[in-house]
Amino acid sequence: MTELLTPIDQAKYAAAHCAADFVKDGMRVGLGTGSTAAWLVRRLGQRVRAEGLRIIAVPTSARTAALGREVGLNIVTLEEARWLDLTIDGADEFDAELALIKGGGGALLHEKIVATASDQMIVITDAAKEVKHLGAFPLPVEVIPFGWQATKALVEEILAAVDVLGRKSTLRMNGANPYVTDEGNYILDLALGRIGNPQQLSLVLNQVPGVVENGLFVDIADQVVIGHADGKCELRDLTSGAPETSFAQVDLDAAQNIFRDL
Ligand code: 5RP
Repeated sequence: MTELLTPIDQAKYAAAHCAADFVKDGMRVGLGTGSTAAWLVRRLGQRVRAEGLRIIAVPTSARTAALGREVGLNIVTLEEARWLDLTIDGADEFDAELALIKGGGGALLHEKIVATASDQMIVITDAAKEVKHLGAFPLPVEVIPFGWQATKALVEEILAAVDVLGRKSTLRMNGANPYVTDEGNYILDLALGRIGNPQQLSLVLNQVPGVVENGLFVDIADQVVIGHADGKCELRDLTSGAPETSFAQVDLDAAQNIFRDL
């Protein structure tokens, strides 16, 4: 089975599988969006079926909600859950302080609301997403459709006053039409090259009328599980300030059961 997975998929599977062990009976859990988060959802479904794990789960997108129901998770809204013990989600980039760029999958708004309504956020990722400085991955910014060109111009103008290399923004498309988020908004992808001060940029972007939220997650996550293609995963924990690192090994052959018993 593992020969059917690419090395990147194996790394994502390993990260998701390790992080799923942090989910305990009775927890209220936020579920991220994207291919890594999808492995987590499948693994949690497997634990529910095999161990009788009882959790309630709040998805960050319609896609994740559909997958969660398919694998047998008890999916509720954030309004119903009110507050969460733990959110586990992927990222597009992360740095040494666990500042993140998210939103490559278009779910950044719900992802940020769910993560900040959680006691703890764990990032699941492959090693290729670790960077010294955020910004090589285009920063997604969710904007309301009304007057989006004016919002885009204002965003590009304020980028001149902050510590970034580039200023060009692009409306995300879905074929011939703008990509539309679960909240009915558009996304601008900002080609910044390098972000000198993620916290400042996040605050400044959210001042622009028409901007709903941006994909910078600063001081939200304090643990990351980095998966590798050989099934090894590395947990970096920044909760006590200095990083504490531990390792675990995942049986990649078990990946087949995730599909076999659905
Ligand atoms: C979705 C996200 C994802 O977490 C991010 O894009 C990573 O995706 P993947 O796990 O598929 O690499 O932020 O909005």
